[in-house]
This record gives sequence, C-alpha cells and structure tokens, in this order.
Amino acid sequence: MCGIVGAVSTRDIVPVLVQGLQRLEYRGYDSCGVAVHGATLGSTQGGLQRARSTSRVAELMSQIQTDHLQSGTGIAHTRWATHGAPAVHNAHPHFSTGPGSSKDLENKPGRVAVVHNGIIENHEELRAQLQAKGYVFTSQTDTEVIGHWIDSVYNGDLLDAVKSTVLQLKGAYAIAVFHKDEPHRVIGARAGSPLILGVGQAHSETFLASDAMALAGVTDQIVYLEEGDVVDIQLGKYWILNGAHKSVTRPVKTVQAHSGAAELGPYRHYMQKEIFEQPRAIADTLEGVQAIVPELFDGHTGSAHRVFKDIDKVLILACGTSYYSGCVAKYWLESVAHIPCQVEIASEYRYRSSVPDPQTLVVTITQSGETADTLAALRHAQSLGMHQTLTVCNVATSAMVRECKLAYVTRAGAEIGVASTKAFTTQLAGLFLLTLALAQSKGRLTPEQEQEYLKEMRHLPAALQAVLALEPQIINWSQEFASKENALFLGRGTHYPIALEGALKLKEITYIHAEAYAAGELKHGPLALVTSAMPVVTVAPNDALLEKLKSNMQEVRARGGVLYVLADGDTHIQSSEGVNVIRMPEHYGVLSPILHVVPLQLLAYHTACARGTDVDKPRNLAKSVTVE
Ligand code: M6R
Repeated sequence: MCGIVGAVSTRDIVPVLVQGLQRLEYRGYDSCGVAVHGATLGSTQGGLQRARSTSRVAELMSQIQTDHLQSGTGIAHTRWATHGAPAVHNAHPHFSTGPGSSKDLENKPGRVAVVHNGIIENHEELRAQLQAKGYVFTSQTDTEVIGHWIDSVYNGDLLDAVKSTVLQLKGAYAIAVFHKDEPHRVIGARAGSPLILGVGQAHSETFLASDAMALAGVTDQIVYLEEGDVVDIQLGKYWILNGAHKSVTRPVKTVQAHSGAAELGPYRHYMQKEIFEQPRAIADTLEGVQAIVPELFDGHTGSAHRVFKDIDKVLILACGTSYYSGCVAKYWLESVAHIPCQVEIASEYRYRSSVPDPQTLVVTITQSGETADTLAALRHAQSLGMHQTLTVCNVATSAMVRECKLAYVTRAGAEIGVASTKAFTTQLAGLFLLTLALAQSKGRLTPEQEQEYLKEMRHLPAALQAVLALEPQIINWSQEFASKENALFLGRGTHYPIALEGALKLKEITYIHAEAYAAGELKHGPLALVTSAMPVVTVAPNDALLEKLKSNMQEVRARGGVLYVLADGDTHIQSSEGVNVIRMPEHYGVLSPILHVVPLQLLAYHTACARGTDVDKPRNLAKSVTVE
C-alpha cells in the first residue's frame, strides 16, 4: 500500500529517498515518484522538480539519474491506486501550480508538492470548490485536492496552510508537503494512516516516513506521530503539534528496524524463503517460553494476570490470513480453555451494531500491526467500553502494539511476500500459548497438560522441517494445478480455516478461482460444481472427524471430482484412481493446523511459479493495507 518518505538535509538526499521507497516496496505499489526542491544545495535557483513512473523504483532511479535530480529537500511515494488508474499522471507527488487555465498548465512552475497515503472521503466536494476558484485538475486522485487547497490558503507559512487544510479533510491521511518559497522545510500530518518522524544523525537532517523500515540504516531514532499530529521538519530541528494544534513533545525511541531488502539466499522468491523460514520463525516465537505464565502477554501495561482473571469471553478481530488464524484459535479457546470465543472480520465488526460486553478480551491479530480495518475495529470496541485488549502482532513498534493493553509479539521477522506464510504459523503459535494461558488462569490446565503441550510446541520446528521435505511431491501436484481455473478446498474442525487459508493462498498468487468449504457443507450446494475438471484439495488429519471426511471424499469421487489429499500417515487413505495422496510425516493432535497449512502454501507457490505470475507482488494487492 502507499508509502511515504520525506527529508530535509544539507546533503543530496535523493538516494536516501529512493532507498526508502525500495524498503517500502514490500507493501505493494503500482507507481512511484520523487519530488525535490531545486534550490537547496547552495543554489538559490530552481523550483519544484519531479520524476514519476509506473514501473519499479529501480526504473525511477534511472529516470532520476538521467534528469540529474539532486536536492537536500524532497518527498517520495509509492502509490497503490484507489482513485484513478495506475498511470503517471495519477502517481504522486502531485503539484499545485495555482489557479489558471488548463492550457497554461504545461509551462507553469509547481508551487506545492504533496504525497499522500489514505483516502480523502470528501474529495469531490473539495474539488468542486477548488474548480470554482480556477484550479485545474490533472489527475483522478483524491490527493490532488490537498495540494491545491494548501496553495489556495498559503500566505507565506506552509505550517499554517497545512493546519488550515487538514481541518477540511474527511477520511484518512498521512501527508508530506513542501512549498517552492520554503526550500528547507517539509510539513507532515497524519490521521488514520501511519507516519513516523526520523531524527537524523548527521547533515542536520530530519525525515518523515510511513514506517521505521524505510529509514533502516539511515537513522534508528524514531518518533511515532499520533492521530491528528502535524509536524514541521527543518534542518536539524522539528516541531510537533497535536490534533488541537498545540505544541507537544513525543518520545524519541531507538528502533532497530530490519531492512526490507533481506537477502534471498538460495530461494527464487521471498515467499519461498519465508515458507522455509517457518521452523526458525516458530522457534524464535517460542524462545524464552519456559512455562505458561500470563506475563508472556504483558505488553506495555504489565497487567495480563489481572485481565485474564477478569474476562470471561474472547472477541477476535482481524482480516485476511490473520482472520483465518483467529478462526483456528476459536476452536482451541473453546475446546481447551472452555472460553466462549467469537471471531469477526474487522471491516464488518467496525460498522455493525453489536452487543458490547466489558468482560470480553478483545484480541486483534495482525502481521503488520497497521491494517486500517483492524485498527478501526479495535478503536470501535474500545469506544463501546471494551478496554481489555490484546494483540498478536509481528511488529513490536506498530500502532496495534502501542494501542492494545496486552501483546504477544511473534518473531517471524520481516515478511516481504504479499502472501502471508510465516506470519500465519507464528500467529497460530502465539494464539495457542494464549489459549493455554487463559485455560491456566481459569484453573482448566493441569501442570501435566501444560508440560505435555509445551513439549509438543517445542517439537514444532522439527515437525515443520519434515513437512517442508514434502516439497518435491507438491511440485508434482502443482504441474497439474497450473492448467486449472477453479479449485475447491475442504476441511473440517480446526482444519476448515486451514482449507480457507489454502484457497486464499492459491487465488492470491496464481489467480486461480478457489473456494473452501467445511466438508460437511459440500452436499448443501458446492457439490454441484464438482466435475472431472475440478481438483478438490482435502485436508485430512487423523482426528475425530476423519470418518466423516472420508464420506465427503466419496461424495466427490462419485461425481468424478479429482481429490488431492493431505493425509496424516496413520489415516490409511491410499492413492488410487482420481485420489492423489501426500502423506504427512506425523499426526500432530491439536497443533496439526500449524503443519497442515505448509503443503498448501507450497502448492500455491509452485503453481504460481508454473503459471509465471509475480509471486511476491501479486496484481492488485498490497502487503500492508493501510486504507479501509
Ligand atoms: O497485516 P495484517 O495481518 O493485518 O494483514 C491482514 C491481511 O491483509 C493479510 O493477511 C492478507 O490477507 C494477506 N495478503 C494474505 O496472504
């Protein structure tokens, strides 16, 4: 999703801006651009200049070199299209050249440059008002109104103009802006979209960015801007105003952000690398867990012990893959901890009338910790009086960890591939620990059970390694899937969400239409789709529902459907005509979903490779979904 980098410095900052964009590439984008002030490095001449591209950031860099763009002041952006197609004229930064007729536009110098992340909901109304004042629009974006509005109210002080402009904006935004008359100044503002400030360590420089990763290797001194903040950055200094436009001090934190440009090593894609990192990611996530104690979840408030005693139900809020991990956790929480649990898609929960209960533990699950819908759902729950909040999140410095009372920070490491893999399995590990901790605080976990579960969890990395060794067999399946346009996934119990996740992975990166069903639902409708052209992937652990699942498989075979079965070794399901079986190395009881999802990740990955899609950056998708 859109990414922002901005800076003022005494050195040429363009390479740093571009490197920042490269570090934000993992969020997904379809165009990119940089704007600089030409009069910053000793020269008093030169106005606003920019380069924009619908290719990769690397291509933008060659354009910048050809155009000799150099400056100490600039803003840069990766755009994920919301309003207007991915095209150069819609790419940020946008310039305002002031009011005037459309035929003058080509030759008029820019006066304001702006980049924006988020959605301005009242852009049509603002556009009409600006058009009435003579402003001409050159893009279909909602963003362009921001630059023109700033221009229309500018009276010699960019901070004042931005303060007045943000009062007009409805919706979500993080912005960075500079003006032709103030060459060493960038103003930022945020509401609903993330923006951080980086305090430079030399060259009197100060930065703005969407996240700390964009500034990895440049500065680790980070200020997390809060909702409604407006920030003024200049050479070697900065000022922050809060939502009421009063001057405030925010803490500077030392943040060790890892560079997004992680080495691929022997792997072809980040997704493949991340699938194979899962044994390490789970081991790291469980590192230091010697016993089940509430303190594992203390987060920044240190109050898990009291919260766990007080609550009597759980509400899980999440999106996409994280939602599916929540669906698995519901089975665990109800069967192991005997705590009622509801799981809701964050974008639905935030807008529906629900019945709040303050004794509910609100659990958000998010890899990035910045997903707009999940953050909004959390805030909605809080606004309804539900203040017992916990997040399972992969980014310790994220808004979600800051805004929840309690946290379990998974240690998957930076996930670059848009399709989530290691984040999912580490979330499941964190959620199982949460299940055990809640069971214990309710007196429903004996010391013997605790030891047995911990032993099984510690064996997960080795068990995952054995599942990864199935890759050659999965590659054989992927050759057959590559020519399909539809697929069904079936599972039951905790493996129903695993089937859902398998279908999501396949559609996300191969563009094959895939649906998942609880296998018992098959005869209530989807069976009508089954023909010999329909591959049916079945997740078949050796659990209490195995015999029921075998009947569902017969229903598929009787209609000529071709089965691809991931069966536990002791299920006695054999390959035969129309039945392809891959045998899982061992039966893993209640933790089996963590293993069974891995072949499905590999199936999607190898099918995508066979179809030649852009595995790590699938079309239309973004890694970090910071707009609603
Ligand atoms: O960062 P989050 O976990 O909050 O992201 C939620 C979804 O956007 C994410 O899981 C998405 O569904 C993935 N692309 C799935 O692979």
